Amino acid sequence: MDIEKALKELEAALKEELNSIKTIEALQDLKAKYLGKKAELSLMMRHMKDLPDQDKPTFGQTINQAKQRFSKHIEHHRKTLETLKLNKKLEKETIDVTMTAPSYRLGTTHLLNQIIDDIEDLFIGMGYLIKEGPEIESDERNFEMLNLPKNHPARDMQDSFYVTEETLLRTHTSPVQVRTMLEYGGQKPVKIICPGKVYRRDDDDATHSHQFMQIEGLVVDETTSMSDLKGTLLAIARRMFGEDRQIRLRPSYFPFTEPSVEVDVTCSKCDGKGCAMCKHTGYIEILGAGMVHDNVLRMSGYDPEVYQGFAFGVGVERLAMLKYGIDDIRHFYTNDLRFNRQFK
Ligand code: DAH
Repeated sequence: MDIEKALKELEAALKEELNSIKTIEALQDLKAKYLGKKAELSLMMRHMKDLPDQDKPTFGQTINQAKQRFSKHIEHHRKTLETLKLNKKLEKETIDVTMTAPSYRLGTTHLLNQIIDDIEDLFIGMGYLIKEGPEIESDERNFEMLNLPKNHPARDMQDSFYVTEETLLRTHTSPVQVRTMLEYGGQKPVKIICPGKVYRRDDDDATHSHQFMQIEGLVVDETTSMSDLKGTLLAIARRMFGEDRQIRLRPSYFPFTEPSVEVDVTCSKCDGKGCAMCKHTGYIEILGAGMVHDNVLRMSGYDPEVYQGFAFGVGVERLAMLKYGIDDIRHFYTNDLRFNRQFK
């Protein structure tokens, strides 16, 4: 038998077959066919025992070399297949960096905080400091030092949540006035606004909430006057309801101010002509204010012979409701996202 020729033919057949092999699995089968125990090459090896001894080494060598070449062909093809497979996979997994990303919803600042931020901006621009106080307050600072002694009839206006006999959930942000004046020791001017939560024992309905938010303002200086107060209130009204707004002050009563006023702004819907929103008066009430009562100044260490002050207190929900035509205060606290998302 011409072993060299037989091997050459076998090798050519292998190469021919390799050309049509497209998968690693098929290649595995082909390898078994050409190099496995039952492969022709293995069968040829068995002839060795029939050969004369001197021919055996060359024969064995020839077969082994062929085996190595076959292996090399197969491995080469395996590498080619693997590269093709990888390229295909990479092609499928390419990322289109120009594709638009899927959108997801961002949270928004709550409307009440937006209003507070806006008013803080306005007042910081006018040189005020922002002050905060605790929500659990002493009866003394919440009432007594604001000229509301125990058994004062005005306490009826503010049915309260008492924590102990002497402490309560603050019914307004006005005690921060007291805290700040005490902190300043009756010596230097005060110019602050104080945003925060307040609590009253009201039954919740469309216009009442047992918890709501206020912003308190206080200016104490040697030359503070009612006209300063009026200019400041006008600035708030215009910031909230538009630059064309006018305000009017009506006499009112608060124990901690004298004189006290209720502040109305011209209706932004009808521009003061009268409509359903302003109940045909042309005006909408927005807040309470006044000149700080001598007793309040004195109790917090300021000499009313030297210092005068003005103060105001405004409900944040009320401002938001008027500004956006919201008809139920409970919307602010029920966390209905459909409501919240309207105020981005
Ligand atoms: N504390 C008052 C309230 O809760 C609001 C208020 C009115 C505050 C007049 C003031 C003021 O500082 O001067 O109803």
